[in-house]
Amino acid sequence: MTTNDNTNPGPVQTRTPVAVLGLGLMGRALAAALLGAGHPTTVWNRSPGKADALAAQGAVRARTAADAVRSAPVVIVCVSTYDVAHQVLDPLAADVDGRTLLNLTSGTPEEARRAASWAAAHGADYLDGAIMGVPQMIGLPGTLLLHGGPRKTFDAQEPLLRVLGGANTYLGDDPGLPLLYDMALLTLLYATGQGLTHAQAMVGTAGVSATEFQPHAASVFHTVLAGLFDAESARVVDEADYATEVSNISTNQLAVGHIIRTSRELGLPTDWLAPVQAGLDRAVREGHAADNPARLIEYVRPDSP
Ligand SMILES: NC(=O)c1ccc[n+]([C@@H]2O[C@H](COP(=O)([O-])OP(=O)(O)OC[C@H]3O[C@@H](n4cnc5c(N)ncnc54)[C@H](OP(=O)(O)O)[C@@H]3O)[C@@H](O)[C@H]2O)c1
Repeated sequence: MTTNDNTNPGPVQTRTPVAVLGLGLMGRALAAALLGAGHPTTVWNRSPGKADALAAQGAVRARTAADAVRSAPVVIVCVSTYDVAHQVLDPLAADVDGRTLLNLTSGTPEEARRAASWAAAHGADYLDGAIMGVPQMIGLPGTLLLHGGPRKTFDAQEPLLRVLGGANTYLGDDPGLPLLYDMALLTLLYATGQGLTHAQAMVGTAGVSATEFQPHAASVFHTVLAGLFDAESARVVDEADYATEVSNISTNQLAVGHIIRTSRELGLPTDWLAPVQAGLDRAVREGHAADNPARLIEYVRPDSP
């Protein structure tokens, strides 16, 4: 895995013409960054009005997706789903031959691998990518984009990718890896977000506003929660070294029970906590009450008994 944080895209005369298919919130940000860095940029979107501002900034507006693809050696695809990407690209199989496709659409790792196979079958170089940020972060030096596909394709496109985010990271030749990482990282986001929402609803029953609660939530996030993300916590999982002097499964089983009983008292939903409770209960039943809760990964892996 390699990361590059240099945002200088290179001399103007070497800048590659690029086509951008999909001008939603993210596609427009990508195209604007490319234009800003001096890349000749052709844009296409199903709803053509979304190209207006980019055309005013110097983008060439393509009438059809085929016109866009034929205009440039590098084609960036950023539409809502892989099904949409196939709807747009499948009729253009003959046109992608010899070009490089950079697919920044979100989906599943298998969808990315199938798209890579489709591209290879039609003579295109292909990199799949995941953008770990929002459109307003496109072009910033610290913005992380994850990439997977042939190393030589990544190396060839790396100066262009640097325009989109300074912290490009090559994960390996498997085109499914960026979306695997993306979905893993988004799991953290949504699970934490659900917890925050529930916590705000809990204190809200006592008339405590989210603003009043925020410093306490932030304090726990930066201290107790941060500990889950440190190198020692990762080592514990990798080495299945579940002995603990910090907080064991038994203590956490009781804590989750308290949360569930409190939530019931307050009339809040508890269904989303049931799998957490079930994992802790199972670990206690199986004799692991004194272990680190990191042991619960044993029940989540696909080959779990
Ligand atoms: N926004 C973010 O914060 C963010 C962050 C990371 C990754 N992403 C990913 O980037 C991709 C685009 O996101 P976005 O925020 O730009 O979404 P968006 O604003 O909803 O735009 C969706 C794009 O897909 C196109 N599209 C949808 N259905 C289509 C169809 N049947 N045929 C042709 N085009 C179609 C839309 O065209 P129309 O304009 O004609 O509807 C539009 O260009 C998604 O995969 C998303 O997960 C977004």
